[in-house]
Amino acid sequence: MCGIVGYIGNREAYPIILNGLKRLEYRGYDSAGIALYDGTGIQMAKTKGKVSDLESRADAEISKKGSLGLGHTRWATHGVPNDINSHPHYSNSGDLVIIHNGIIENYASIKKELINRGYTFKSDTDTEVLVNLIEEIKKKEDVKLGKAVQIALNQVVGAYAIALFDRKKPDEIVVARLGSPLAIGIGENEFFVASDATPFIEFTNNAIYLKDEEMAIIRLKKGVKVRKIKDDSLVDPYIHELQLNLEQIEKGGYDHFMLKEIYEQPKVIKDTYRGRLLANKGIIKLGGLEDHINKFTNADRIIIVACGTSWHAGLVAEYIFEDWARIPVEVEYASEFRYRNPVITEKDVVIAISQSGETADTLAAIKLAKERGAFVYGVCNVVGSSISRETDSGTYTHAGPEIGVASTKAFTTQITVLTMIALRLADVKGTISHSDYMMHLRELDTIPTLVEEALKSDDKIREIAYEFKDAANFLYLGRGYNFPVALEGALKLKEISYIHAEGYPAAEMKHGPIALIDEHMPVVVIAVNSNHYEKVVSNIEEIKARKGKIIAVVTEGDTTVKELADYIMEVPKTPETLSPLVTTIPLQLLSYHIAVMLDRNVDQPRNLAKSVTVE
Ligand code: M6R
Repeated sequence: MCGIVGYIGNREAYPIILNGLKRLEYRGYDSAGIALYDGTGIQMAKTKGKVSDLESRADAEISKKGSLGLGHTRWATHGVPNDINSHPHYSNSGDLVIIHNGIIENYASIKKELINRGYTFKSDTDTEVLVNLIEEIKKKEDVKLGKAVQIALNQVVGAYAIALFDRKKPDEIVVARLGSPLAIGIGENEFFVASDATPFIEFTNNAIYLKDEEMAIIRLKKGVKVRKIKDDSLVDPYIHELQLNLEQIEKGGYDHFMLKEIYEQPKVIKDTYRGRLLANKGIIKLGGLEDHINKFTNADRIIIVACGTSWHAGLVAEYIFEDWARIPVEVEYASEFRYRNPVITEKDVVIAISQSGETADTLAAIKLAKERGAFVYGVCNVVGSSISRETDSGTYTHAGPEIGVASTKAFTTQITVLTMIALRLADVKGTISHSDYMMHLRELDTIPTLVEEALKSDDKIREIAYEFKDAANFLYLGRGYNFPVALEGALKLKEISYIHAEGYPAAEMKHGPIALIDEHMPVVVIAVNSNHYEKVVSNIEEIKARKGKIIAVVTEGDTTVKELADYIMEVPKTPETLSPLVTTIPLQLLSYHIAVMLDRNVDQPRNLAKSVTVE
């Protein structure tokens, strides 16, 4: 939930760290700070607010000199967002400086003990407790910083990615991780540390992703030594060659990352099935699936665990897995699943869906499912993420970095992967006819073009957004495959415009939500060609009879709904089973334009963070 950056080398650290923080701001943005070793001492600037506020403060308060430094952008857990609680934090002697992403759960008892030993605390954070625990161990045991960190981390309970240095030994940074990501960039005579590789992508393509329960001592002259936190044993780390490029993590002329990511969907959907779907030959080949296909075909049921938008993708999957592969599916909020003592057996397959691969609740659900003997399959976007490592096998979506906090391209690429899995299983099980199977492969292959078509309605959707930007509430309705799309449309609107919105299965409207409808209530109805089309038309009539304002997503050429609705957003024709991939596009654009018109911070909505690495 926070972003951390560090640098040690021969360049000026400040611009590298500041730029890195800007790239990691999606992870948290309620306060930020930086600490630099300038050759004689530590300069520190920190502030409540965004990295741009930090920049102004650093301009005014510090010389910004030094080639060793740490930076942090925060999403508050312990202690309100203010200057004092911002990271980095000093130890009591002022020698050690730390940045931390995560939560130290037993910080209160450690703090009490440290206070008894004379330590004082300026902030309310768990992080300041950790740095003082390390200092206490370093002094008491008379050990080097790395050893003190290792001993301290064996005493703490919680999650962390930390980086720290000692001003008396300014040739090394010590880092460690458990449950929060940490990458080390390896350059020539310089090293970078960050929550993901984006802060150092223009400097090096080589990176080590620390695994859980690993720490590293990074020395300017001696390089990187990775050790196990538990027993201090040495680890031979794998050096990844990064595939990222700068263009992927910049806005590329768009006003916001969210808009760029919405427009990237034709490309990234194609990237996700490229080489895996050979439509004309009738082949779907997913490396991670083939070796374990029996697990799926023999499964009693599939349990999907995920959160937020990924959970909505799971709901779409429920329809297609059951429809095509005839395997019973349950879709669970990871946060509920992990705490309700679920019945899981060795005959269950659990699919965990996550864009970031770092969502704490999803990770915990995976661990629980594995403990109880289930086979766990991951659908993740971030390569090397905790979830991708924790699962038994899986398939990556190839959405590229998703930086806007509101998930867009992750959703459609997740559905793309899940569709391929469902079709492949149905083919192996013989639960889909050959012609239906072939038709779906060919149709899936046209989705990028259809999404491009759907994006052409952008100007019209902007006009609709203008009409409804001041509404206080929205209702989103859909049926069947498009019920999850209604939920996703409502979530998008809520999180970036702060307008209250609810998604419902259209037929459920009459069981309660219909009471909300009057002339002030915009109702977004997904009414594309489907088995339920007539029923949805009836629902639209019901809304109209109560003077609700109808914004309908319809199939190109539709005339019936066009007559009834106040506004329509057209999408190209698809089989109903694949329609979520196109019906979601106008809903993403609608929420985007409303949020822009309301002057919201689209890419960094209030109170949110891109990856939720805390419970
Ligand atoms: O990284 P994940 O897919 O695991 O994240 C899950 C949710 O936190 C995420 O989808 C969240 O709901 C988004 N802000 C939705 O736009």
